[in-house]
Amino acid sequence: MSSAFSLAGKTALVTGAGSGIGQAIAERFAAAGAVVWIADVDAAGGHATVARIREARGTAEFVRLDVCRDADFDAALVLVPVVDVLVCNAGIGHVGTVLTTTPTDLERIFAVNVHGAFRTMKAWLPGMVSRGRGSVVLTASTAGLGGLVDRFAYATSKHAVVGMTRSAALDVARTGVRVNCVCPGRVETPFVRSRINEYPDPAAAYRDMASTQAQGRMGQPDEVAAAALFLASDEASFVTGSALAVDGGWTAGMFPQK
Ligand SMILES: NC(=O)c1ccc[n+]([C@@H]2O[C@H](COP(=O)([O-])OP(=O)(O)OC[C@H]3O[C@@H](n4cnc5c(N)ncnc54)[C@H](O)[C@@H]3O)[C@@H](O)[C@H]2O)c1
Repeated sequence: MSSAFSLAGKTALVTGAGSGIGQAIAERFAAAGAVVWIADVDAAGGHATVARIREARGTAEFVRLDVCRDADFDAALVLVPVVDVLVCNAGIGHVGTVLTTTPTDLERIFAVNVHGAFRTMKAWLPGMVSRGRGSVVLTASTAGLGGLVDRFAYATSKHAVVGMTRSAALDVARTGVRVNCVCPGRVETPFVRSRINEYPDPAAAYRDMASTQAQGRMGQPDEVAAAALFLASDEASFVTGSALAVDGGWTAGMFPQK
Protein backbone atom coordinates (compact mmCIF):
# COMPACT_ATOMS: atom_id res chain seq x y z
CA MET A 1 0.00 0.00 0.00
CA SER A 2 1.55 3.32 -1.03
CA SER A 3 0.81 6.44 0.98
CA ALA A 4 0.45 10.12 0.14
CA PHE A 5 1.12 11.11 3.76
CA SER A 6 4.28 10.18 5.59
CA LEU A 7 4.73 9.12 9.20
CA ALA A 8 8.37 8.13 8.62
CA GLY A 9 10.43 8.28 11.80
CA LYS A 10 7.34 8.44 14.02
CA THR A 11 6.04 6.09 16.65
CA ALA A 12 2.29 5.57 16.75
CA LEU A 13 0.10 3.78 19.26
CA VAL A 14 -3.41 2.69 18.29
CA THR A 15 -5.89 1.37 20.86
CA GLY A 16 -8.39 -1.21 19.68
CA ALA A 17 -6.06 -2.07 16.80
CA GLY A 18 -6.83 -5.78 16.99
CA SER A 19 -9.88 -5.44 14.75
CA GLY A 20 -11.86 -3.28 12.35
CA ILE A 21 -11.12 0.42 12.07
CA GLY A 22 -8.19 0.32 14.52
CA GLN A 23 -6.57 -2.49 12.57
CA ALA A 24 -6.95 -0.54 9.31
CA ILE A 25 -5.49 2.58 10.92
CA ALA A 26 -2.51 0.61 12.23
CA GLU A 27 -1.89 -0.91 8.80
CA ARG A 28 -2.14 2.49 7.07
CA PHE A 29 0.21 4.10 9.58
CA ALA A 30 2.76 1.31 9.18
CA ALA A 31 2.55 1.66 5.39
CA ALA A 32 3.23 5.39 5.88
CA GLY A 33 6.45 4.54 7.68
CA ALA A 34 5.51 4.63 11.37
CA VAL A 35 6.56 2.14 13.99
CA VAL A 36 3.12 1.09 15.24
CA TRP A 37 2.18 -0.22 18.67
CA ILE A 38 -0.96 -2.33 18.54
CA ALA A 39 -2.70 -1.80 21.88
CA ASP A 40 -5.68 -4.04 22.53
CA VAL A 41 -7.33 -6.01 25.30
CA ASP A 42 -7.66 -8.88 22.81
CA ALA A 43 -4.19 -10.41 22.46
CA ALA A 44 -5.16 -12.75 19.59
CA GLY A 45 -6.58 -9.87 17.53
CA GLY A 46 -3.60 -7.68 18.38
CA HIS A 47 -1.06 -10.30 17.33
CA ALA A 48 -3.00 -10.88 14.10
CA THR A 49 -2.66 -7.17 13.25
CA VAL A 50 1.07 -7.29 14.01
CA ALA A 51 1.43 -10.28 11.69
CA ARG A 52 -0.47 -8.53 8.86
CA ILE A 53 1.76 -5.45 9.17
CA ARG A 54 4.97 -7.50 9.24
CA GLU A 55 3.82 -9.47 6.20
CA ALA A 56 3.54 -6.12 4.41
CA ARG A 57 7.09 -5.29 5.58
CA GLY A 58 5.95 -2.76 8.15
CA THR A 59 7.08 -2.45 11.76
CA ALA A 60 4.63 -3.27 14.56
CA GLU A 61 4.63 -4.52 18.14
CA PHE A 62 1.80 -5.62 20.41
CA VAL A 63 1.09 -4.26 23.88
CA ARG A 64 -1.80 -5.66 25.86
CA LEU A 65 -3.92 -2.74 27.05
CA ASP A 66 -7.36 -2.68 28.59
CA VAL A 67 -8.23 1.01 28.41
CA CYS A 68 -10.29 0.59 31.59
CA ARG A 69 -7.29 -0.54 33.71
CA ASP A 70 -4.80 1.91 35.21
CA ALA A 71 -2.29 -0.89 35.83
CA ASP A 72 -2.23 -1.71 32.10
CA PHE A 73 -1.33 1.91 31.33
CA ASP A 74 1.50 1.85 33.88
CA ALA A 75 2.96 -1.24 32.18
CA ALA A 76 2.39 0.11 28.65
CA LEU A 77 4.13 3.39 29.50
CA VAL A 78 7.24 1.48 30.56
CA LEU A 79 7.23 -0.38 27.24
CA VAL A 80 6.24 2.61 25.07
CA PRO A 81 7.33 5.83 26.78
CA VAL A 82 7.44 8.02 23.65
CA VAL A 83 4.55 8.27 21.22
CA ASP A 84 4.31 10.82 18.39
CA VAL A 85 0.88 9.80 17.11
CA LEU A 86 -1.78 8.53 19.48
CA VAL A 87 -5.05 7.02 18.29
CA CYS A 88 -7.78 6.56 20.91
CA ASN A 89 -9.95 4.16 18.96
CA ALA A 90 -11.03 1.35 21.33
CA GLY A 91 -14.78 1.42 21.66
CA ILE A 92 -17.83 -0.74 22.25
CA GLY A 93 -21.46 -0.46 21.22
CA HIS A 94 -24.79 -0.81 22.95
CA VAL A 95 -28.38 -1.12 21.75
CA GLY A 96 -31.08 0.53 23.85
CA THR A 97 -33.26 3.61 24.20
CA VAL A 98 -33.28 6.17 26.99
CA LEU A 99 -36.08 4.06 28.50
CA THR A 100 -34.38 0.66 28.35
CA THR A 101 -30.76 1.68 29.06
CA THR A 102 -29.77 1.15 32.69
CA PRO A 103 -27.26 3.23 34.66
CA THR A 104 -24.99 0.18 34.61
CA ASP A 105 -25.19 0.03 30.80
CA LEU A 106 -24.27 3.70 30.57
CA GLU A 107 -21.36 3.26 32.98
CA ARG A 108 -20.03 0.26 31.01
CA ILE A 109 -20.13 2.14 27.70
CA PHE A 110 -18.62 5.26 29.24
CA ALA A 111 -15.87 3.21 30.91
CA VAL A 112 -14.48 2.18 27.51
CA ASN A 113 -15.57 4.90 25.07
CA VAL A 114 -15.08 7.98 27.26
CA HIS A 115 -12.91 7.17 30.29
CA GLY A 116 -10.82 4.79 28.19
CA ALA A 117 -10.04 7.50 25.63
CA PHE A 118 -9.42 9.99 28.44
CA ARG A 119 -7.03 7.60 30.22
CA THR A 120 -5.20 7.00 26.93
CA MET A 121 -4.68 10.73 26.46
CA LYS A 122 -3.65 11.14 30.12
CA ALA A 123 -0.95 8.51 29.59
CA TRP A 124 0.78 9.91 26.48
CA LEU A 125 -0.37 13.51 26.02
CA PRO A 126 1.93 14.98 28.72
CA GLY A 127 4.98 13.58 26.93
CA MET A 128 3.82 15.08 23.63
CA VAL A 129 3.29 18.45 25.28
CA SER A 130 6.71 18.39 26.92
CA ARG A 131 8.36 17.55 23.55
CA GLY A 132 6.28 20.26 21.84
CA ARG A 133 4.90 18.01 19.11
CA GLY A 134 2.44 15.23 18.50
CA SER A 135 -0.94 14.39 17.07
CA VAL A 136 -3.89 12.72 18.79
CA VAL A 137 -6.72 11.22 16.76
CA LEU A 138 -9.83 9.91 18.49
CA THR A 139 -12.43 7.69 16.89
CA ALA A 140 -15.77 9.30 17.62
CA SER A 141 -18.76 8.60 15.35
CA THR A 142 -21.61 10.22 13.46
CA ALA A 143 -23.38 9.26 16.70
CA GLY A 144 -21.24 11.99 18.27
CA LEU A 145 -22.66 14.60 15.89
CA GLY A 146 -26.35 13.78 16.17
CA GLY A 147 -28.69 11.53 18.13
CA LEU A 148 -29.41 7.95 17.09
CA VAL A 149 -32.60 6.00 17.79
CA ASP A 150 -32.06 2.99 20.08
CA ARG A 151 -28.37 3.81 20.69
CA PHE A 152 -28.78 6.07 23.72
CA ALA A 153 -25.63 5.12 25.67
CA TYR A 154 -23.46 4.85 22.57
CA ALA A 155 -24.51 8.20 21.09
CA THR A 156 -24.18 9.90 24.47
CA SER A 157 -20.66 8.52 24.85
CA LYS A 158 -19.62 9.59 21.34
CA HIS A 159 -20.92 13.13 21.93
CA ALA A 160 -18.57 13.12 24.92
CA VAL A 161 -15.68 11.99 22.70
CA VAL A 162 -16.31 14.91 20.33
CA GLY A 163 -16.45 17.29 23.30
CA MET A 164 -13.26 15.80 24.72
CA THR A 165 -11.52 16.26 21.35
CA ARG A 166 -12.46 19.92 21.08
CA SER A 167 -11.68 20.77 24.70
CA ALA A 168 -8.35 18.92 24.76
CA ALA A 169 -7.38 20.56 21.45
CA LEU A 170 -7.93 24.00 22.97
CA ASP A 171 -6.05 23.11 26.16
CA VAL A 172 -2.89 22.18 24.22
CA ALA A 173 -3.33 24.36 21.11
CA ARG A 174 -0.20 26.44 21.74
CA THR A 175 2.08 23.53 22.62
CA GLY A 176 2.57 22.08 19.13
CA VAL A 177 0.23 19.18 19.83
CA ARG A 178 -2.95 18.72 17.78
CA VAL A 179 -6.09 16.80 18.78
CA ASN A 180 -8.78 15.79 16.27
CA CYS A 181 -11.37 13.10 15.83
CA VAL A 182 -12.84 11.14 12.96
CA CYS A 183 -16.59 10.58 12.92
CA PRO A 184 -17.23 7.47 10.86
CA GLY A 185 -20.65 6.60 9.53
CA ARG A 186 -21.51 2.92 9.24
CA VAL A 187 -18.38 0.99 8.46
CA GLU A 188 -18.18 -2.74 7.69
CA THR A 189 -16.28 -4.12 10.68
CA PRO A 190 -16.81 -7.12 13.01
CA PHE A 191 -18.54 -4.65 15.39
CA VAL A 192 -21.19 -3.76 12.80
CA ARG A 193 -21.45 -7.24 11.28
CA SER A 194 -22.32 -8.73 14.68
CA ARG A 195 -25.05 -6.10 15.13
CA ILE A 196 -26.47 -6.86 11.67
CA ASN A 197 -26.58 -10.58 12.44
CA GLU A 198 -28.79 -9.89 15.47
CA TYR A 199 -31.60 -8.65 13.21
CA PRO A 200 -34.28 -11.17 12.12
CA ASP A 201 -33.46 -10.33 8.47
CA PRO A 202 -29.72 -9.49 8.32
CA ALA A 203 -29.74 -8.81 4.57
CA ALA A 204 -32.53 -6.25 4.98
CA ALA A 205 -30.72 -4.70 7.97
CA TYR A 206 -27.55 -4.40 5.88
CA ARG A 207 -29.43 -2.67 3.05
CA ASP A 208 -31.10 -0.35 5.55
CA MET A 209 -27.79 0.61 7.19
CA ALA A 210 -26.12 1.14 3.83
CA SER A 211 -28.94 3.39 2.63
CA THR A 212 -28.65 5.68 5.67
CA GLN A 213 -25.61 7.20 4.03
CA ALA A 214 -26.05 9.59 1.12
CA GLN A 215 -23.65 7.52 -0.97
CA GLY A 216 -25.94 4.52 -0.41
CA ARG A 217 -23.25 2.18 0.89
CA MET A 218 -21.32 1.30 4.02
CA GLY A 219 -17.81 2.60 4.49
CA GLN A 220 -14.73 0.39 4.61
CA PRO A 221 -12.29 0.51 7.54
CA ASP A 222 -9.48 1.69 5.28
CA GLU A 223 -11.52 4.74 4.22
CA VAL A 224 -11.59 5.84 7.87
CA ALA A 225 -7.90 5.00 8.20
CA ALA A 226 -7.07 7.32 5.29
CA ALA A 227 -8.75 10.23 7.10
CA ALA A 228 -6.98 9.34 10.35
CA LEU A 229 -3.64 9.29 8.52
CA PHE A 230 -4.23 12.79 7.17
CA LEU A 231 -5.08 14.11 10.67
CA ALA A 232 -2.06 12.32 12.15
CA SER A 233 0.35 13.63 9.54
CA ASP A 234 2.19 16.94 9.41
CA GLU A 235 0.06 17.82 6.37
CA ALA A 236 -2.72 18.60 8.87
CA SER A 237 -0.51 21.10 10.71
CA PHE A 238 -3.26 23.76 10.92
CA VAL A 239 -6.05 21.30 11.78
CA THR A 240 -6.90 20.91 15.45
CA GLY A 241 -10.14 20.49 17.37
CA SER A 242 -11.91 19.23 14.27
CA ALA A 243 -14.47 16.45 14.08
CA LEU A 244 -14.05 15.06 10.57
CA ALA A 245 -17.11 13.22 9.27
CA VAL A 246 -16.15 10.14 7.24
CA ASP A 247 -19.68 9.06 6.60
CA GLY A 248 -20.55 8.97 2.91
CA GLY A 249 -22.55 12.16 3.39
CA TRP A 250 -24.77 10.83 6.20
CA THR A 251 -24.54 13.99 8.30
CA ALA A 252 -24.58 16.38 5.33
CA GLY A 253 -28.37 16.26 5.10
CA MET A 254 -31.08 16.87 7.67
CA PHE A 255 -32.61 13.45 7.03
CA PRO A 256 -31.18 10.09 5.98
CA GLN A 257 -31.08 9.72 2.20
CA LYS A 258 -32.96 6.69 0.85
N1 LIG B 1 -17.89 0.25 12.65
C1 LIG B 1 -18.59 1.36 12.61
O1 LIG B 1 -19.56 1.49 11.84
C2 LIG B 1 -18.21 2.52 13.48
C3 LIG B 1 -18.82 3.74 13.21
C4 LIG B 1 -18.46 4.84 13.98
C5 LIG B 1 -17.53 4.70 14.98
N2 LIG B 1 -16.98 3.50 15.24
C6 LIG B 1 -16.01 3.42 16.31
O2 LIG B 1 -14.80 2.92 15.79
C7 LIG B 1 -14.07 2.28 16.84
C8 LIG B 1 -13.68 0.89 16.38
O3 LIG B 1 -14.86 0.18 16.06
P1 LIG B 1 -14.85 -1.10 15.12
O4 LIG B 1 -16.10 -1.05 14.34
O5 LIG B 1 -13.56 -1.23 14.42
O6 LIG B 1 -15.01 -2.23 16.26
P2 LIG B 1 -14.35 -3.68 16.47
O7 LIG B 1 -15.21 -4.33 17.49
O8 LIG B 1 -14.15 -4.35 15.15
O9 LIG B 1 -12.94 -3.33 17.10
C9 LIG B 1 -12.83 -2.75 18.36
C10 LIG B 1 -11.52 -3.15 19.00
O10 LIG B 1 -11.44 -2.50 20.27
C11 LIG B 1 -10.97 -3.44 21.22
N3 LIG B 1 -11.42 -3.10 22.57
C12 LIG B 1 -12.67 -3.19 23.08
N4 LIG B 1 -12.66 -2.85 24.38
C13 LIG B 1 -11.38 -2.55 24.69
C14 LIG B 1 -10.73 -2.15 25.89
N5 LIG B 1 -11.41 -2.02 27.04
N6 LIG B 1 -9.41 -1.91 25.85
C15 LIG B 1 -8.70 -2.05 24.69
N7 LIG B 1 -9.26 -2.46 23.54
C16 LIG B 1 -10.58 -2.70 23.54
C17 LIG B 1 -11.53 -4.78 20.76
O11 LIG B 1 -10.83 -5.88 21.31
C18 LIG B 1 -11.40 -4.65 19.24
O12 LIG B 1 -10.15 -5.12 18.80
C19 LIG B 1 -14.98 2.30 18.06
O13 LIG B 1 -14.63 3.40 18.88
C20 LIG B 1 -16.35 2.51 17.46
O14 LIG B 1 -17.24 3.11 18.37
C21 LIG B 1 -17.30 2.38 14.51
